[in-house]
Amino acid sequence: MTMKALMLSGGRGTRLRPLTYTGAKQLVPVVNKPILWYGIEQIVAAGITDIGIVISPETGDAIRSATGDGTQFGAHITYILQASPDGLAHAVKIAQPFLGDAPFLMYLGDNLIRDELSSFVDEFVERSLDALILLKQVPNPTAFGVAVLNPEGQVTRLVEKPKNPPSDLALVGVYLFSPQVHRVIAQLRPSPRGELEITDAIQELVNTGGNVTAQSLQGWWLDTGKKDDLLAANQIILDETLSHEISGTVDDATQISGRVRIGSGSTIINSTIRGPVVIGDNCHIENCFVGSYSSIANGVKMVDVEMDHSVVLEDAVIEKLHQRIVDSLIGRRAQLLHSPKRPKASRFMIGDDCVIELT
Ligand code: G1P
Repeated sequence: MTMKALMLSGGRGTRLRPLTYTGAKQLVPVVNKPILWYGIEQIVAAGITDIGIVISPETGDAIRSATGDGTQFGAHITYILQASPDGLAHAVKIAQPFLGDAPFLMYLGDNLIRDELSSFVDEFVERSLDALILLKQVPNPTAFGVAVLNPEGQVTRLVEKPKNPPSDLALVGVYLFSPQVHRVIAQLRPSPRGELEITDAIQELVNTGGNVTAQSLQGWWLDTGKKDDLLAANQIILDETLSHEISGTVDDATQISGRVRIGSGSTIINSTIRGPVVIGDNCHIENCFVGSYSSIANGVKMVDVEMDHSVVLEDAVIEKLHQRIVDSLIGRRAQLLHSPKRPKASRFMIGDDCVIELT
């Protein structure tokens, strides 16, 4: 039976506030592309084109209008509303009418992984597994679901956000399931945090003799739930994928070095751009230094600004700052204006629509 995919794109995004008061965490861009889209592209690259996206009432419309019916990805997307954030297994439960009896790949929309999915899909199909989970060693297992393996490498135990972690192998937010998972989810009870946990469902599959296997992830894995994770994701993707491509207008006084992408309709005047850097469409950059690992979205205006290792979202305005902006995340339409001379750099996490004047 043809595989389907389920992307989970609800949740409240509490760890990316204030940005997520006004937008979905899965639409926050990495190298000017929503995080969610990286996962969709990987799913399609693995040959799965029937994709359900679970959305929440708060941010569902934004996700739907940005992502559309899937045509732009060569896929068919069905949106499934989860009325309240009752857990990952609950999301699978409400998606059952879409999933039917198909085996499926489940992908958490704020996760980014380097590995291609096709080898995992092939193994899952060839071995007729009930679940294939992906694991990665982490320094902070208390923040994740973790798995314990026996000496033969089979999964014996799974614990969600353990206080005393029995292993340091975290569950990556990509899972493959046979329709057997619906049987165990139907029996699940909410966890102490009040959610139907996918970790508990997998444990139940193990307990009832299901064929559950783990694979370790070779490449990097980023859970972009927090500012510094997002900046790290931005750095890695800029490093690995950015091509040098200059559109727009760049004046003679501007110096560009390294890999830099500048979109159409943008104007760069008397500035230094040191790649890897991406600048979107219709930006105005004047008398600026834009240093490595910065991503500037469409419609941004920056005048008299020095910046390094930062992400600026659409239509933000930054003017006349006399201190370097580093490690910062600046929201849509935010305005950051006029600071006096100061020797030190500053770090900001600024939500959408804020106006900040440093006088
Ligand atoms: C969820 C899962 C957890 C997994 C993590 C991966 O946690 O419950 O088992 O390790 O995703 O990103 P959440 O990030 O929703 O707290």
